[in-house]
Amino acid sequence: MDGRPASAPAAAPVIAGEDLWWWPVALEGEASAAPLALRLLGEALVLWRDATGQPVLQQDRCPHRGARLSMGRVCQGQLQCPYHGWRFDAAGRCVSVPALPDFVPPASSSVRTWPLRSAHGLLWTTSGDAAQARLPDLAASLPGRRLVFGPFDVATSAARAVENFLDTAHFATVHEGWLGEASHPEVPHHEVQATADGRPVVEGYRAWQPRASASAEGGAWVRYRYEVLSPFSALLTKQPEAPPTGQAPQGPQDSYTIWACPQDDEHCRLWFAQYTSDTVSTDDELERFQTAIFAQDQPVLESQRPRRLPISAAAPREQSTAADRLSAAYRRYLRQQGVVTGVC
Ligand code: FES
Ligand SMILES: [Fe+2]
Repeated sequence: MDGRPASAPAAAPVIAGEDLWWWPVALEGEASAAPLALRLLGEALVLWRDATGQPVLQQDRCPHRGARLSMGRVCQGQLQCPYHGWRFDAAGRCVSVPALPDFVPPASSSVRTWPLRSAHGLLWTTSGDAAQARLPDLAASLPGRRLVFGPFDVATSAARAVENFLDTAHFATVHEGWLGEASHPEVPHHEVQATADGRPVVEGYRAWQPRASASAEGGAWVRYRYEVLSPFSALLTKQPEAPPTGQAPQGPQDSYTIWACPQDDEHCRLWFAQYTSDTVSTDDELERFQTAIFAQDQPVLESQRPRRLPISAAAPREQSTAADRLSAAYRRYLRQQGVVTGVC
């Protein structure tokens, strides 16, 4: 007896927040004839391309003896295990067992196939119901020139990486001479609002930046807008303020997204997309700027302990101030979403 009344209803199945969303796993076009090992939510996955050119994402574990399918190869549009050569089709069915040429493999010899879709220059999958899961939406009007940078593999949780993307108080220290200046370390007052579905938004944040963009020729006051798009993605838009003389702003509108793939509790893979009105800088110059900025962030990000973002009352305590209000709103949002990967 467990003491529960016989009439008590069975507990509803718990749906983790992770199951409510699509997650980015690779660049569009990254799937090839060579199987690629990936990781998502602690699962080992393999990405390959079938005979029709469609990308396929499957569990990276052979149902025969557990070998990694990503060490195998694609033959005639099927994925062949490197160990005993079993072959799997794009639906995950085992279609050949070479040691028994006449054997028809049962359905139980299949590998799990994950759904895939393309969006925002990336391939996405979900651990939940593909018909119900949400894709982060870029409803805001964005400049038409898009570049996607990455992947960047980072030894910290996706939540720490996204919180860093939302954090402005580190500009004057981590990005001194670029996004901030020691003479202007202050975080001005700003309001954190929320979308109808609870995602934190900051409509107006003002920062002095010595070098706000790849094409900047001097310092400028820059207007920021932040929006959390999903538990592990966010959008920021920045543009130098128009001078008081009424002229047009002296610099491009740049919108950046961070797309974080939660590989496991302490590792993530990131892509940054830039949507820009900059028609002067080359793709290489834009990529060098973004790569230089993230190279300043990464060592600090990887030094943070715990690597999981503390969001629960039982987690190791971190001291927050009024300058951290967007971080605090992001942590509350993660709690509301019921996310468990990379948080504590
Ligand atoms: S372990 Fe894959 S075929 Fe044997
Ligand atoms: Fe940063």
